[in-house]
Amino acid sequence: MNKPRPRSKGARVLIIGGGGREHVIAWKLKQSRKVDRLICAPGNAGIAKIARCVDINPVKTRNLADLAVKNRIDLAVVGPEVALEAGIVDEFQKHRIKIFGPNKNAARLESSKVYAKEFMRKYHIPTAPFKKFSSSGAAIGFCKSVEYPVVIKVDGLAAGKGVFVVDSFDEASDTITKVMETKTFGDAGKNIIVESFLRGQEVSIMAFCDGKTIIPMLPSQDHKQAYEGDKGPNTGGMGAYCPTSFVTPEIMEQIEVYVLNPFLKGLEKEGLIFRGVIYAGLMLTSSGLKVLEFNCRFGDPETQVVLPLLRTDFFDILMATATGKLQSIGKLSWREQTSACVVMASKGYPGKYPTGLTIRGLDIKLGNGNYIFHAGTVKKGNNWVTAGGRVLNVVGLESDLKLSLDKAYRMVKNIKFDGAMYRKDIGFRSLQA
Ligand SMILES: Nc1ncnc2c1ncn2[C@@H]1O[C@H](COP(=O)(O)OP(=O)(O)O)[C@@H](O)[C@H]1O
Ligand SMILES: [Mg+2]
Repeated sequence: MNKPRPRSKGARVLIIGGGGREHVIAWKLKQSRKVDRLICAPGNAGIAKIARCVDINPVKTRNLADLAVKNRIDLAVVGPEVALEAGIVDEFQKHRIKIFGPNKNAARLESSKVYAKEFMRKYHIPTAPFKKFSSSGAAIGFCKSVEYPVVIKVDGLAAGKGVFVVDSFDEASDTITKVMETKTFGDAGKNIIVESFLRGQEVSIMAFCDGKTIIPMLPSQDHKQAYEGDKGPNTGGMGAYCPTSFVTPEIMEQIEVYVLNPFLKGLEKEGLIFRGVIYAGLMLTSSGLKVLEFNCRFGDPETQVVLPLLRTDFFDILMATATGKLQSIGKLSWREQTSACVVMASKGYPGKYPTGLTIRGLDIKLGNGNYIFHAGTVKKGNNWVTAGGRVLNVVGLESDLKLSLDKAYRMVKNIKFDGAMYRKDIGFRSLQA
């Protein structure tokens, strides 16, 4: 008689994605005694050290569900927004596999900026005044009578490249023509938003949310621009630190009252199924806080600085969120430290960049507040080589921001690849304040 195969006690977790965010998620889950096996699709060379990587694109939802069924996955965790938009949560739920992330309909809060802005307006979540347009003529007409700068936003997902701060009517008109007539963003640019330009400190807040309960994580600040002084083109993110002193306890309370609670109420009223992370990009203006946008998943690189500070068992939180039992988690527990992340990128990023360059100096001793989370790397024989625009996230954890930055930069100086680019001023806003 065939004996049933003994089932190991720990959980089997599938992580979807393959950047620095997914590496830190895998690393954090690995520390949980409740996790037995980790699979990551597609993963990267850093993740491959702690999880089995399977080369499946995050938008291939059926193939991923097959993988999950075959491997008797207990919980799947979604990293990138493209997978949410492709309906990965709906697909997994069809197969009764537990998954952390909002379904496709709820993920419109990220995948459609028009939908998100209308949601904010409806539930009185403070945000910049805006107008939505579905024709270039009307949008250009409107731009004749606005005060500059204004911000033009492509409705759909644009990998962080669909937002334009424009200083004049000519620039506005050019941008609108490119987006709506030349269709540089395809269907993502069918509709656009024109909104008021806001001034202030930008901060990020992520919160776990199961549709009934919402629990915020520590606030962080990231640096989106490619060059020092927050200048130059926007990137996926060049660094971040956590917590940020710009979010005082009073501001944290305002975030809960004006953003997170109304968000939850909106979900309920709209009947949205949201079991994942809500990330609000905020501007702290002189007339109060405003939401710039929602993301429906962990931020990158914010997650690389937030998760190392988390004490509460990460698997417990993810599982409770995915199963609608987040309330049982209560308050999260955090290390009383600061973390800082410096992104090392390929020369030319966020434009064209070379790949396949050998990375040296990755064999340094990690732990004790020194961490490296891989973004774009692959292993060729015994060598680590570059494979993306953002290559590595170098994270230092210490008692204050200055010391955590020193720690991160000490590691950065020892890591070499041709043309390696990194910003030397991560955290400058807080250090200057
Ligand atoms: N109303 C605004 N006023 C000033 N800056 C803005 C405004 N909206 C967006 N930005 C800037 O543009 C960046 C990208 O906008 P965001 O709405 O977050 O879109 P995405 O992250 O999808 O590109 C923000 O991080 C912020 O720096
Ligand atoms: Mg953003």
